[in-house]
Amino acid sequence: MKAHAGEMQPSINNTDGEEHSRWRRMLTSSFTRRRMEKLRPAIQQITDDLIDQMLAGPNPIELNEALALPLPSLMICELLGVPYEDHEFFHRHAGVTNSVNKTPEEAAETIAELRRYISQLINAKMGEPAEDLLSDLGTRVKDAELTLDEASRLGLILLVAGHDTSANMITLGTALMLQNEEQLAVLREQSDDSKFVTNAVEELLRYLTLPHLLARRAVIDDIEFDGETIRAGEGVIVSLPAANWDAEAFPEPGKLDLTRTSSHHLAFGWGPHQCVGQQLARIELHVVFSTLFRRIPTLRLDADISELKFKEDSQAYGIYELPVAW
Ligand code: HEM
Repeated sequence: MKAHAGEMQPSINNTDGEEHSRWRRMLTSSFTRRRMEKLRPAIQQITDDLIDQMLAGPNPIELNEALALPLPSLMICELLGVPYEDHEFFHRHAGVTNSVNKTPEEAAETIAELRRYISQLINAKMGEPAEDLLSDLGTRVKDAELTLDEASRLGLILLVAGHDTSANMITLGTALMLQNEEQLAVLREQSDDSKFVTNAVEELLRYLTLPHLLARRAVIDDIEFDGETIRAGEGVIVSLPAANWDAEAFPEPGKLDLTRTSSHHLAFGWGPHQCVGQQLARIELHVVFSTLFRRIPTLRLDADISELKFKEDSQAYGIYELPVAW
């Protein structure tokens, strides 16, 4: 990752202060809780449709393909105005951008292809705007608020971050629930209680903390921390999983307890760079975890947990394939 860091161009995720605020302002009104709540009926409909398809199709099935990926992908496509037919292209490219093992050449090539793709979409929308975020970015380009190149960088991060993270949470969360019969019974019993599910989602986010390598920072001034000096110029990976499993903040952190209060977790980061899409992700997870086990009460893993291939090599933790049966 260090090898290609030098080629990264400024964007929302790697700028500070005023420069960062400028990027961030372009998105805040599009991702408010109120706006995201308006999407809830669509998220519920898509989830129900995908579960209908699961029930009508082969059994066992692979959950990433059947539900975990299509739901957030369809939603981010709808929000951005990206054609869902292209999902194989951007799923594959997101896999490469998130990989920690990519070569600098692979990184450069993948980013360039994705940027070209998004630029073409924004360009088309500048001629024929629609009610979507890429059209809004196109308008800003026309108003000379940002360049097409900058707009494509923002579109790219939203497209990648907007589907892969939520998808991983759905797959990991399902596997976790299916391994915890007692907690699953509680969730199934209370799946109509919106307050309970809201809380349960926070506990799943805390327990799983999938962005295990996301909060990376470069130190700009020497700092003392817990008896250590961290020097200007050094790099730091702030371990969000360690924070979320800190026994002082969460007693018995290794215990999954859907009834505990976990809302002070750091799974979406903290401070100015805190996740832009967190309200959308929360609603997607709320809908999935209140619907899936209610509609398929006999859902079970169709593999031993030791056979599953976890995404050790990705910036966002997950499971490559999750076979389930019912
Ligand atoms: C469960 C799902 C998700 C998790 C766990 C997650 C986690 C995170 C974390 C930890 C950060 C902060 C990184 C840092 O401090 O350096 C972040 C930033 C970000 N996330 Fe998410 N995210 C999720 C879903 C989404 C979705 C659905 C979107 C878009 C629709 C999104 C867009 C972004 C963007 C644009 C940033 C950069 C913000 C900035 O640097 O100012 N994320 N996310």
